[in-house]
Amino acid sequence: MILEPGLLDRVRGAERVCVLTGAGVSAESGVQTFRGSAGTWEGHDPMRLASQEGFDADPELVWRWYRWRQERIFAAAPNAAHMTLADMEAHYAGFCLVTQNVDGLHARAGSRSVVELHGSIWRLRCPADGELVEIDRPVDEVPPRCRCGATMRPDVVWFGERMPEVPLEAAFRAAAECQVMFAVGTSAIVYPAAALPSLAKSSGAYVVEVNVEPTPISAYADAFLCGAAGELLPAIWSEVVLPKAL
Ligand code: OAD
Repeated sequence: MILEPGLLDRVRGAERVCVLTGAGVSAESGVQTFRGSAGTWEGHDPMRLASQEGFDADPELVWRWYRWRQERIFAAAPNAAHMTLADMEAHYAGFCLVTQNVDGLHARAGSRSVVELHGSIWRLRCPADGELVEIDRPVDEVPPRCRCGATMRPDVVWFGERMPEVPLEAAFRAAAECQVMFAVGTSAIVYPAAALPSLAKSSGAYVVEVNVEPTPISAYADAFLCGAAGELLPAIWSEVVLPKAL
């Protein structure tokens, strides 16, 4: 693999690293991305499946879709990209893994501290009394009900909804303070997450993008590594850590 001059030095020398991941990091685990010809949104109206209006109109349809996704994710395993990011966490004094994914695969790979900007498909929320319920397998009942009798919703961020403030602030702080920022497997068109790499860049960080195709980040990234995250991340990381171990 031919790397941009300086990339390894920057990644080796950094103390604070921030990583933004999107659906592409889970693609090699068999979890569908959202955009593109094989993406979730192809042939589906996101507003019917991932908005409060869609949920109010047909909660059963929305839950059938979420249960289908839960089943796919439950059957999937973290891939080499998730594993590498979990290894990286232990290596840096400051490491912040920010994900737009709701699949929980980073935690299953061993990442201990993950900022989940879009919530989790493994948590339910009661719109009536605010109760949160963590689950570790797909829901049995569709739609699931709260103890109070109300219909639960997935605790994810839908279109038109604000992101929870605490993870959002943590993500912006990490992007502004990092020395190296990785953007991995995201189309970088959904804001505010898409603003994180450019914030890092304007704050002086070295920005590395890993994606199978160019995105808006590619125009300003210091290094654009074109290929599958599950191949490229382990390859870069082995170059970063091997000389230190010798
Ligand atoms: P997208 O589906 O928009 O983009 C996935 C990105 O991953 C694309 O840029 C692909 O080129 C890239 N990709 C695919 N396979 C890859 C691989 N093996 N290695 C590296 N890159 C790969 O997903 P996100 O950017 O995560 O929000 O989408 C952001 C948000 O839009 C999602 O969280 C979701 C969606 O609508 C909500 O549901 C609110």
